[in-house]
Amino acid sequence: MKAIQYRSYGDYSENRLVELPRPQLLEGEVLVQMRTVGINPLDNTFRSGHIYLATPQNLPRIGGQTGAGAVVETKSEAFKVGDRVFVRASGFGLVADGTWREFVPVPAATLSRIPDAVDDDYAAAYLAGAGYLTGYLALTELASFKPGQAVLAPAIGSAVGMETVQVARRLGASLVISTAGNTQKAKRARADGYEHVIDLSTESLKDGVLRITDGRGVDVVVDGVSGRVTGQALASLAFGGTVVIAGYAGGRDAEVNVTDIIWKAATVRGFTFRLFAPETVAAANAALLAYLEEGRLQPTISKVFPMSEAAEAVRYLIEDRPFGRVLMHAQH
Ligand SMILES: NC(=O)c1ccc[n+]([C@@H]2O[C@H](COP(=O)([O-])OP(=O)(O)OC[C@H]3O[C@@H](n4cnc5c(N)ncnc54)[C@H](OP(=O)(O)O)[C@@H]3O)[C@@H](O)[C@H]2O)c1
Repeated sequence: MKAIQYRSYGDYSENRLVELPRPQLLEGEVLVQMRTVGINPLDNTFRSGHIYLATPQNLPRIGGQTGAGAVVETKSEAFKVGDRVFVRASGFGLVADGTWREFVPVPAATLSRIPDAVDDDYAAAYLAGAGYLTGYLALTELASFKPGQAVLAPAIGSAVGMETVQVARRLGASLVISTAGNTQKAKRARADGYEHVIDLSTESLKDGVLRITDGRGVDVVVDGVSGRVTGQALASLAFGGTVVIAGYAGGRDAEVNVTDIIWKAATVRGFTFRLFAPETVAAANAALLAYLEEGRLQPTISKVFPMSEAAEAVRYLIEDRPFGRVLMHAQH
């Protein structure tokens, strides 16, 4: 079978197309023929060696944390051949071989069925950036979000930004604000129904939030950008507000005015999946799947590449700042 594997930590070109044996199944596992797989910025962080998990013991590694496929062989009663399934399992693409291959052996307990109305590409987009799960857990578990509150999730084109906005709307936020790094992206977002998008090429984040909220600020920020956004996000908070920091697409270093923390009695929380019990994550996934089936979530696809172009696909996600998820077709 074809797979995308890297044998050392390095630049995009380490994502190499290789030929490997088709995997054998263990008891309780299901063999899934992957159709569409997702790319997540963490795949890039990991392959470039910029994370504590990136050790020589974790090489070689097949990348990819998520995807959509169909069952072709099963050693579990829970799934039959032909079932369409969401694929994601703990450590996939990081400390265990992942989804960027034609066939993936998966513990049945980690699989769930894809609703008939959701095609393979949208199913893969739903999982790709983990933005829905991040947004939901950040709001409900870390920020004690309540309906009626105002939420800011910067970077409307991104997984964390766009998907948190959708989740916050579904959870009953009074107002949901995001940002775009350029005017073209801001226009595209507004055309897609995202009403409050601050164009950061013409207005600062703080000024935009204060304008939209009539000077009050937002109750919750869920941020995957950091860097220069962090100080502005704290400055955009209402009294008693919470900033949940999930990622650092815009930089690891931030400068903050500490009076924004002190005078607003602000809470700053770091988001990592390690915080949550498996039951909490399972309940979040069930709630999100129900929202998806209701049509209240809109997974958005920027571009689908053939898996043979994995190096370019990852570069595109990281450098071109697309509007929506970046996917690969696993079959040729
Ligand atoms: N802690 C966790 O468990 C967790 C969960 C999910 C994601 N994350 C992390 O959160 C971060 C965001 O993930 P994502 O999937 O939402 O990212 P993404 O889809 O790749 O989008 C990142 C966005 O950040 C904005 N940005 C601002 N400055 C940037 C810069 N210098 N370079 C690149 N982008 C910049 C861009 O929007 P504009 O062009 O509009 O500025 C870009 O679209 C990543 O670091 C990811 O690893 C962490």
